[in-house]
Amino acid sequence: MTYILAIDQGTTSSRAILFDEPMRPAASAQKEFPQYFPQSGWVEHEPDEIWDSVLSTCRAAMEKAGVSASDIAGIGITNQRETVVVWDAETGAPIGRAIVWQDRRTAPFCAELRDEGFEAELTRRTGLLADPYFSGTKLKWLLDETEGARARAEAGEILFGTVDSYLIWRLTGGAAHVTDATNAARTLLYNIREGAWDATICERLGIPMAMLPKVLDCAADFGATDPELLGGAIPILGVAGDQQAATLGQACFEPGMFKSTYGTGCFALLNTGAHLVESRNRLLGTIAYQLDGEVTYALEGSIFIAGAVVQWLRDGLGIIGKASDSAGLAGKADPGQELYLVPAFTGLGAPYWDAEARGAIYGLSRNSGPAEFAKAALESVGFQTRDLLEAMHSDWPSAGDGGGGVLRVDGGMSASDWAMQFLADIIGAPVDRPQVLETTALGVAWLAGHRAGVYPDRDGFARTWALETRFEPQMAAEDRARRYDGWTDAVRRTRSG
Ligand code: G3P
Repeated sequence: MTYILAIDQGTTSSRAILFDEPMRPAASAQKEFPQYFPQSGWVEHEPDEIWDSVLSTCRAAMEKAGVSASDIAGIGITNQRETVVVWDAETGAPIGRAIVWQDRRTAPFCAELRDEGFEAELTRRTGLLADPYFSGTKLKWLLDETEGARARAEAGEILFGTVDSYLIWRLTGGAAHVTDATNAARTLLYNIREGAWDATICERLGIPMAMLPKVLDCAADFGATDPELLGGAIPILGVAGDQQAATLGQACFEPGMFKSTYGTGCFALLNTGAHLVESRNRLLGTIAYQLDGEVTYALEGSIFIAGAVVQWLRDGLGIIGKASDSAGLAGKADPGQELYLVPAFTGLGAPYWDAEARGAIYGLSRNSGPAEFAKAALESVGFQTRDLLEAMHSDWPSAGDGGGGVLRVDGGMSASDWAMQFLADIIGAPVDRPQVLETTALGVAWLAGHRAGVYPDRDGFARTWALETRFEPQMAAEDRARRYDGWTDAVRRTRSG
């Protein structure tokens, strides 16, 4: 039996999953690693801890399955996007902690970029916005704040990478400093029209281009593992940022198909084919995937709090013992009460991009209790998804057409029937949950497996996508309209401006 090893390096944990020849998960291992919050709005990871978690989960998954390096035809890597690592080109020692995508420390510099009118230029070149979410301003911060770093970067002594790039460098024993087009597209430094690092932006941000990795297709030869690490040299053949990997894993290959992944946050991606849509609603233009040198673009809507609102019910309010209890509690809510929870705990993402907004709840009465809070929390995820889909439809009227108007879902929260039924109700369209919920890992396993000649081509892979449950909208049209009006009013009252 031949296997493909998928490494899924996420924001809070790393996972390694071995897929067998029929593309089924055969064994997996997962390890959480520490999060550091040195100041309000700052989020950091220790690169060595990320690396240790990846290496140990790869070894554990191989051991569980009784698989050795020679049984593995290729490795696929998918990762938390935008997070910045800078390391010594000789020793691999990081120059500081990784600055995580959630980190807001560069908000003042982003405001400066907007004030000087540079945001339109950034958007035209990268599809992104002048927001701290993306890597570029975080990298600038590290170079500004670390003594001698800029000069060392210019001399090629220190290297920049998103997490995929850092892991490849370490896995190959320092032989390869590369990334893929989807990860490059999230840095704010990569021109997604030209497919090259952007000299104008790098100059404005003071980023020496010598420190940037070489950008490859999502399926390519990224190097081979140092034999000391996993007991043999295994080729790394597939790389994609986690949301793009989920888009692949959901087989959203046709323009007009979309998927939504519910992890800590929620990320909806709409395949727009060869067409880079310029959003009028502050969605992001990005690369869905790049295969055989051909770029497929996507419109992306990013919400920062989705599954995290359920964590808040558990850890903040203490009204549930475990995440899966939330739906049961929500089901007990008084149907006569219509509460609206706007979970702007770390500001609002797309399409509002309001970093200063903070969470709020509306409609409380003497009878409001845990059940009503749980219901409002789960509903907030559906409402936010509808915000994204409204923006997508307005930017690109054929949004959804490629998949018959159906939204494909995955990620932890998609396991909740209650939340997915409400989602279908409030967007007024069917929601499809696939049999394989490991879509992120599957997407990148497919990239590597296809490159290795073990897995089918694009169309063959798309045919293996199998439905588990379709949620059809059941809510009456007037209720849908009234509830969504209630939500938009709640958001309006919550916004900072
Ligand atoms: O853009 C951030 C995203 O890639 C993080 O995903 O699943 O690690 O929360 P996740």
